[in-house]
Amino acid sequence: MQATQATSVQKSIIDFKKAKKVTTHTLQEMKQAGVKISMLTAYDFSMARIVDAAGIDVILVGDSASNVMAGHETTLPITLDQMIYHASSVVRGIDRALVVVDLPFGSYQGNSKEALNSAIRIMKESGAHAVKLEGGKEVKESVERIISAGVPVMGHLGLTPQSIYKFGTYAVRATEEQEAERLREDAMILQQAGCFSIVLEKIPAALADDVSSSLFIPTIGIGAGPDCDGQVLVIHDMLGINKEFKPRFLRRYLNLFDDIRKAVEHYIDDVKSLDFPNENEKY
Ligand code: KIV
Repeated sequence: MQATQATSVQKSIIDFKKAKKVTTHTLQEMKQAGVKISMLTAYDFSMARIVDAAGIDVILVGDSASNVMAGHETTLPITLDQMIYHASSVVRGIDRALVVVDLPFGSYQGNSKEALNSAIRIMKESGAHAVKLEGGKEVKESVERIISAGVPVMGHLGLTPQSIYKFGTYAVRATEEQEAERLREDAMILQQAGCFSIVLEKIPAALADDVSSSLFIPTIGIGAGPDCDGQVLVIHDMLGINKEFKPRFLRRYLNLFDDIRKAVEHYIDDVKSLDFPNENEKY
C-alpha cells in the first residue's frame, strides 16, 4: 500500500470508529474505503458490553454457543428459543455494534416460509439487527424471502458446521477446483439474492482473496487468510477460555482458562485458610 493510500485508510479507520451505530451500510462503506471489518462472537450481556466498549464492528451471536456455552460437540442441538435467549442478552449489552444472529440448524432448511418465520422471531424477540444462515444455491429462495421482509441476511460458505455430518470432518474446504468453483458461484448467488455480507470459513487464502475481490459486498473470514474484508473469531477461542481448540488460524490474545483457574484456586485457598473475608470485607 502506498503512503498516501495508507494515510487515507488510517483516517477512514478513525472516522468509522466514531460512527454511532454500525449498520449494514457502514460495512459496505468500510469495504469501499479499504477498512477491515472486525467481528467477534458473544452470547451474553456482560461479554457483549466489553466487546462493544472495545469498539468491535459486528457481534455475531453464533450457533457456536452450542459448543462453547452449552458444551455440545456440534452446533446442531441449539434451538431457536436458545438462540433468541442469547441474542436478546447480547442486544441489551451493546450501544454501537451491529448484532447478527445465526439461524440454528433445523430452523430454516425446511422451506423459505420456515426460514422467514425463524428470522422474524429472532428480530422481534431479541432486537438483533440481522440474521446469518449457512449454504449457497440451496438457501437462495430463503435468503430472498427473508430480505423481502426487511431483514438483512449474512451468508456463510466454505466450512459450514451445521453440515458436519455431510462433510465428516472440520478440514479445510474447497481445496479442489470443482468445489472452489461451486463456492465462487454460491458467493455470487448470495450476493445477487441480496446478502449484505458473507462469512468464508476455512478455505484457501487465495480462493478467499479471489471471492472477496469479485464481490461488491464484504466478506468476513475465519481461517480464510488476510484478504477477506473482515475477520471473525469465536471469543472463547481468542481469549483462551477454550484450551483444547488450537487450529492454525486461531490467534490467542489471552490465556483465560489458566488465569481464571488460578484466580479460583486462590479464592478457595483464601476461604479455607480463613483469610477471606477480612476485617474490611465485613459489615
Ligand atoms: O457460530 C459461529 O461462531 C460462526 C463463526 C465461526 C463464523 O458461525
